[in-house]
Amino acid sequence: MKTLPYQPDRSGLAYSVGTTLDRFIKLKQSDFPFASGELSQLLRDIALAAKIVNRETNRAGLANIGGAFGQTNVQGEEQQKLDVIANIRFMRALSKGGEVCAIVSEEEDAVIDLQNSSGKYVVAIDPLDGSSNIDVNISIGTIFSIYRRKSPVGRPIMEEDIMQPGTEQVAAGYVLYGSSTMLVYTTGNGVNGFTYENSLGEFFLSHPGIQAPKRGEIYSINEGLEREWESGVKAYVDLCKDRKYAARYIGSLVADFHRNLLKGGIYIYPATRKNPSGKLRLLYEANALAFIAEQSGGKAIDGNRRIMEIKPNSLHQRTPLLIGSKEMVVEAQSLITNTEKKITEYSH
Ligand code: AHG
Ligand code: MN
Ligand code: MN
Repeated sequence: MKTLPYQPDRSGLAYSVGTTLDRFIKLKQSDFPFASGELSQLLRDIALAAKIVNRETNRAGLANIGGAFGQTNVQGEEQQKLDVIANIRFMRALSKGGEVCAIVSEEEDAVIDLQNSSGKYVVAIDPLDGSSNIDVNISIGTIFSIYRRKSPVGRPIMEEDIMQPGTEQVAAGYVLYGSSTMLVYTTGNGVNGFTYENSLGEFFLSHPGIQAPKRGEIYSINEGLEREWESGVKAYVDLCKDRKYAARYIGSLVADFHRNLLKGGIYIYPATRKNPSGKLRLLYEANALAFIAEQSGGKAIDGNRRIMEIKPNSLHQRTPLLIGSKEMVVEAQSLITNTEKKITEYSH
């Protein structure tokens, strides 16, 4: 007989690079006192839907399923076929599992009440982010936030279950369908990133304990809209240029955010004259990324308020977003608030 000695992981951690997502979720479950395993199961459901959407994304060009579907979504934007597919996949995964009672989706006008009064969780989701990039083979993503319902289990869902500020998130994450597919998530105890291994059909821990650099040399903003910005945003972007920072803008929030998270940088989608509340949505875009940013040592604001403290008053509410490396966001914030102050002083 040949024997093989047991080889403990040298890192001393039960989870290290190479741990599968399933195993990681299971090991992490003990972080939550009285955890019943439902949140863990919900995360697994999301990961499964992500694998399916990943497959559809990879096939988009081949199967000719990319391109406009000829419909518009609730925001009046052109809805792409893959948006619809991703929405269906995630809806199915979330409704089958039994842990969820309600879903808010970018692609759905109203709250989806799953009529599952025993479901403890509410999910807000952008099933496919950066959808204008599908047809040109550029990275896209999925963004999700998970909340615990406020009303008692066993009762119909209420508005208070849905309209929760980001500080109430119990977990949040994103999937990036890029040159490789990644799932990055937090349950409020740091941020971990998993890379998908296509041939094995598994996500493996590749980025444990992600820490965002305190500052970086990248700024990401749609500069074509410069004339629409308020002067504080312009002042900050000028400062970035004085310092010769690199401008990087993919137009897929998940991809832009992910790059800046790893390399250090700031992403800005400011208020514009046309859209005084910006473009991005609080419930299923800004909050999840804000949670991840903060959990990795970064910061997310709407100009002066912390994103996660904004109390939502409508489902598809938009918010300006400045997010990324902490010191950069703080610097942008002070330029924005100082310039605003000056303008009010002059106008008196
Ligand atoms: P979605 O595809 O879910 O509608 O989101 C698109 C968003 C976001 O991903 C991206 O950062 C932003 O729109 C780009 O907007 P602009 O084209 O106005 O820069
Ligand atoms: Mn989006
Ligand atoms: Mn979308």
